[in-house]
Amino acid sequence: MESTRKQLIDFLSNHQGYVSGQELSEQLNISRSAVWKHMNHLKKEGYQIEGITNKGYRIIEIPNQMNESSLQWNLQTKWLGQSLIYKESVRSTQLVAHDLARKDAKQGSVIVAGEQTSGRGRMRRHWDSKAGLGLWFSSILRPDNIEPKDASQLTLVAAVAIAQYLEKFPVDVKIKWPNDLFLNGKKLAGILTEMQAEQDAIQYIVLGIGMNINHTQDDLHETVKEKATSLLIETGESFNLNEVLNGLLMNIERKYELFIEEGFHEIKHEWEQLAYKMGEWIIVKTHKEWQAQLIGIHEDGALKVRDTDGQQHELYSAEILW
Ligand code: BTN
Repeated sequence: MESTRKQLIDFLSNHQGYVSGQELSEQLNISRSAVWKHMNHLKKEGYQIEGITNKGYRIIEIPNQMNESSLQWNLQTKWLGQSLIYKESVRSTQLVAHDLARKDAKQGSVIVAGEQTSGRGRMRRHWDSKAGLGLWFSSILRPDNIEPKDASQLTLVAAVAIAQYLEKFPVDVKIKWPNDLFLNGKKLAGILTEMQAEQDAIQYIVLGIGMNINHTQDDLHETVKEKATSLLIETGESFNLNEVLNGLLMNIERKYELFIEEGFHEIKHEWEQLAYKMGEWIIVKTHKEWQAQLIGIHEDGALKVRDTDGQQHELYSAEILW
């Protein structure tokens, strides 16, 4: 985003009350008339800015429409999303992120899209990403102390971060292994972790997250109507996408740092507490279908189940008929 405008928003966000035009012009090293022009630009983007003679300016409300400045308003992260690109429409934010990562985009760069015309999920499934209804974004991560074989743990780390963020709303969110966030037995969000690695070193990871937010039942794609849900459907309220992204990025950054510093152990515990159908009997499909009890998750991200003979199994890529 235009960096002066971002500085302007940051400055206003970090101040209680009004900031005078004079102070803004000194802090940002621009003229008073440039301050005025930037304010007008922000108003056009949908910011509600109060300007009072002899007092100054303050932001009252951010637009419920995404753009780079609104997405970064009040963003308190240290690095995740501090470099952020917003695109009205892309094929997939994953593709954009891979492209940027190959061109050395830094750790924490985030790409957000209004809509995706070719959004993709795991196993090359289509991910429906209609304009303005949800959050579709990809983050570039460059963990230097994680081995490629442990990269899948990042999906679990992100799932815990998202689930814990959603606890502030009146919803009972669960994590369905390996990459789904579930509300009342329906899918609310999905995570797609893609990695570029050499034999023993990760070059970068693209962590893609899609979350259905302001969809009504009618907005859900025909093929997922029975299986998917949105925050609006579950709570009856609509949400400001900027604020939800802000909260998600905060939580993901915090959990990621915990994971990098302390490893997966602590988070594994949290994951198990949030797991969908923990302790229940499920059907696992490998070469045949068999009954298993879900008992936890292994350190390396595999699902731990026990069969009817009491024998324990670790599942890496099995299909589960939940
Ligand atoms: C899944 O549930 O299979 C994962 C879905 C991941 C969807 C997100 S939306 C942002 C990013 N861009 C994509 O094309 N996919 C991910």
